[in-house]
Amino acid sequence: MAGGFGIDVSKADKVYPGHLTPYVMVTCLAAAFGGLIFGYDIGISGGVTSMAPFLQKFFPSVYHKDAIDKSTNQYCKFNDKYLTLFTSSLYLAALFASFIASRVTRTLGRRMSMLLGGLIFFIGALLNALAQAIWMLIVGRLLLGIGVGFSIQSIPLYVSEMAPAKHRGSLNVIFQLAITIGIFAANLVNYFTSKIKGGHGWRYSLGGAMVPAAFIFVSALFLPNTPNSMLEQGDKEKARAMLKRIRGVTDKEVEAEFDDILAASEASKQVKHPWRNIFKRKYRPQLIMAVLIPFFQQLTGINVVMFYAPVLFKTIGFGDKASLGSALITGIINMLATLISVYGTDKWGRRALFLEAFIGWKFGVSGNVTELPKWYAILLVIFICCYVAAFAWSWGPLGWLVPSEIFPLEIRSAGQTVVVTVNMLMTFLVAQLFLNMLCHMKFGLFIFFAFFVAVMTFFIYFFLPETKNIPIEEMQQVWRQHWFWKRFIPDEHPQV
Ligand code: BGC
Repeated sequence: MAGGFGIDVSKADKVYPGHLTPYVMVTCLAAAFGGLIFGYDIGISGGVTSMAPFLQKFFPSVYHKDAIDKSTNQYCKFNDKYLTLFTSSLYLAALFASFIASRVTRTLGRRMSMLLGGLIFFIGALLNALAQAIWMLIVGRLLLGIGVGFSIQSIPLYVSEMAPAKHRGSLNVIFQLAITIGIFAANLVNYFTSKIKGGHGWRYSLGGAMVPAAFIFVSALFLPNTPNSMLEQGDKEKARAMLKRIRGVTDKEVEAEFDDILAASEASKQVKHPWRNIFKRKYRPQLIMAVLIPFFQQLTGINVVMFYAPVLFKTIGFGDKASLGSALITGIINMLATLISVYGTDKWGRRALFLEAFIGWKFGVSGNVTELPKWYAILLVIFICCYVAAFAWSWGPLGWLVPSEIFPLEIRSAGQTVVVTVNMLMTFLVAQLFLNMLCHMKFGLFIFFAFFVAVMTFFIYFFLPETKNIPIEEMQQVWRQHWFWKRFIPDEHPQV
C-alpha cells in the first residue's frame, strides 16, 4: 500500500539471485516451529487455571469462590494475585532471559540460543508436571519463561537472515503460525485432560510442553548457523559456502549478496557496544519501531482472549465444557487467519495487512454487553472470533516480522532484545492487570483496547515504511526515503 506519503519504497534497488531452495525451506520451517513452545505456554495456562482440581490443590480460595461461594461478583471471582502470578511470571522471566540471550545470539550464534531455549524449557515443563507445591509451579514457569526468552530472541532473526528477501515475510510468518498451532494444541490438550478422572489432568496439560521443547532442541541440533552469524564469528569461507547453498546459486552469483553481508559484518565488528549504539540518532527510527510495534501488539488486548478465554467465557455464563470448547473455536480461527498472512505478507506488503486489520477489530469490539441471554453469548463468541482473526493476519505475525528485519547487523541482536523485552513486559502487564481490570471495568475494558487499536492504525499509516522485498542488509534505504524518518538518516555512509 503506497499511502499518501511516498512511503512505499518496496521496489528494492538490489535484487540478489537466488531461489527458495528446499534446504532453506527446511531450515526455516524447523526453526520457525520453535514458536510452538511459546504458543503452548500462552494457550495452556487459561485452561489449567479453570480446572477445579488444579484450583483446589494450589489456589483453594479461588476454588472456594468459583465452586462454592456463589455470592462473589462474576467478574471478580478469578481475581487472585497468586493465580495471576502463575500466568504472568513466565513473561517476566522471558524478559530478563532475552538480555542474556542477546549476548549468546551475537557471540555464539542464533542456533545456540535455540538449543539452550529448548533445553531449559524442557526442564521447566517437567517440574510443572510433577508439581506438589506452589513453588514448584512458579519455578517451573520461570524456567519455561527463560526458554521462551531464548527462543523468541533468536528465531525471528534466524529466519529473517536465512530467507531470501522475496520470501522473508512468508517464512517468518510461519513462526507466528507455529505460535498459533501451539496455542491451539494447548487448548485441545486442555479440552481432553479436563475430562480425565482422578483430578490429574492438569499434570498432562503442563507436562505436554515437553513435546515442543524436545522438538526445538532436536531440530536446533541439526540446524546450521546463518551466514550472517558465521561472519560475526569470523568464519568467512563457511559463511560464503552456506549462503551459496541456501540460495542455490553459483560462486559468481553469490558474490553480490555475500559482499553486502560481509560489509555489514565488518561494520558490526567495529561496534563494541551494541547497547550504546542502538541509542544513536541514526538508529532512532528502528528503535522507535522496536518499542512501539510490540507495545501496540499487546495493547490490542489479544492476550486477554489467549490467556483467559475459558475464564472469560465462564465469566459470561458458559459452563466448564462450553468454555473450553469456545476457546477451541478461537484457537482454530487464530490459526486459519494466520495463513492469510503467510500468503499475503510478501505479496500485498506489511502495511496493507496492518491497516486492514482495523476493520476486523471494529466488529470485534462491538460485543459490549453485561447481561447475557444465550443468543447474545453466541454472538459475542462470533465477535471475539472476528477480533482474533484480525489480529492473526496482522499484528500477530507482523509484530514479530517487521522488527526482525529492520535492524542493521551491528545492532540486530540488541534490537531484537528490545522487541522481546517490550513484548514480554506488556504481556506481563496485561496478564497481571487483566483480571483486576475486568473486575472493575467489566466490558468497558474492551473499549479501552479499541481506543489503542485506533491509535496504532494511525501510527502505521503515517510512520511505518513498507519493507517487503527489501534485502535485509539494504534496509537503510526505507528510512532515507521516508517523509518523516529521513531527517534522522545521514545521507552518506549508509550503514556506518
Ligand atoms: C503474540 C502473543 C499472542 C499470540 C497470539 C503473538 O504474536 O506475541 O502475545 O498471544 O500472537 O496468536
